[in-house]
Amino acid sequence: MIALTKTETEFELSPTLAINELVVKKRAEGKEILHMGFGESPFPVPHRLAEALKNNTHHKQYLPTAGLPELREAVASYYAEKVGVDTSAYDVLIAPGSKLIIYSLQMAVDGDFIMPVPSWVSYAPQAKMLGRNVIKMPTTLDDDGMHLNADTLRTVIKDAREAGLKPSKILLNYPSNPTGLSIPDHELEAIARVCEEEDILIISDEIYGFVNHQRSYQSISRFAPNHTAISSGLSKHLSLGGWRIGICFIPKAIDGMFSRMTNIASELWSCVPAPIQVAAIEAYKGHADIEEHVAACSELHSHMNRYISDELKALGIKAPTPQGAFYNYPDFEEHRDALKNVGVETSKDLAQVLLEKYEISSLPGVAFGADANQLTLRLSGCDYDGAAALAQLMSLRRENHAYALDEDFIKQYAPRVYKAGQVFKRFINDTTGSI
Ligand SMILES: Cc1ncc(COP(=O)(O)O)c(C=O)c1O
Repeated sequence: MIALTKTETEFELSPTLAINELVVKKRAEGKEILHMGFGESPFPVPHRLAEALKNNTHHKQYLPTAGLPELREAVASYYAEKVGVDTSAYDVLIAPGSKLIIYSLQMAVDGDFIMPVPSWVSYAPQAKMLGRNVIKMPTTLDDDGMHLNADTLRTVIKDAREAGLKPSKILLNYPSNPTGLSIPDHELEAIARVCEEEDILIISDEIYGFVNHQRSYQSISRFAPNHTAISSGLSKHLSLGGWRIGICFIPKAIDGMFSRMTNIASELWSCVPAPIQVAAIEAYKGHADIEEHVAACSELHSHMNRYISDELKALGIKAPTPQGAFYNYPDFEEHRDALKNVGVETSKDLAQVLLEKYEISSLPGVAFGADANQLTLRLSGCDYDGAAALAQLMSLRRENHAYALDEDFIKQYAPRVYKAGQVFKRFINDTTGSI
């Protein structure tokens, strides 16, 4: 018999991809699932980028492993201008998606990994694939953001060292998947100081940086450039997950790190497809039409996801108002007793009941590192026709500068998001009998 590798964990299909496949199956069976389980931005490819790809299909050669020089330069200039990154402190690497960048960073840097909870589903399995330990760090969530306390981080590092672990890197993601919240600036600064003092690498996952609902975002690299690697790409703000473009800023101050990353890349992916890299240059040129597209998409993400949070808050559920990305991370703790009466005691139970009885797909908080009995869910507000909603928003912007997006907009252009609000009402009403 052929034996598979023995690992610390059984590798499963990543929960986000698994829920998507389940929903596709249920829809094929004729079920009307409201899909809040998968976070894929629904907007079309901007015309300029589609043309750039179409015009570059003749590029068929392998490119340098670190990425096409013109793309690496465009990325550096864009981040210097838009985010204020001191690009003289960095080398840029291009990869097929930021998931592989994060994996490679975890591989390149020795030691164990500090994970704020809740965090994106793939960080911990990646660490485990590499035989590294995951050291969890608690956070608190509210309307002001996702809070990471610097003293808590110090304690987490100290305790881990005393337990014989080797904390060497922390993964920060802001705005965050699953919470939709950002880490306040002064907290980023305090965390950066601890990481400098304790020699911890910050892997700054800024994939949702340009989906910040306030339209401005600051990178923690400002506070600790020599201790920060930045990971990002085109998957979220340009809805181009399938193009598989990831970008990474690697600190020059860490001796040998860029060549280590390039060596890893050369053994894992050789290079990102040539036509995609050539086309991607246009995404980093600062073209007004692309910038306007990104701003409009963020406005829609903000409107849809704030709507969901408002609806949940009205039901007595703790649902911090999202500040970026396209997620909500509600906590049903207030309804724990009532939920227990219908057999719901864990986040998995909650997600299960919502899917089977109310036809809403979601992901349980446990998939993001939360304790199994916490009643948290990640809801993604992306289940609508992005092209139609975007076209309508663009025409409102052109015709009426004083437009305001309201509930009617959601009813018309995102009926499943609207319906989800109604279904949650029914769910809480059925469960508590009080609404
Ligand atoms: C927080 C976070 N980081 C990284 C990724 C990976 O994105 P990609 O590999 O498409 O760049 C995702 C995708 O869902 C994400 O949510």
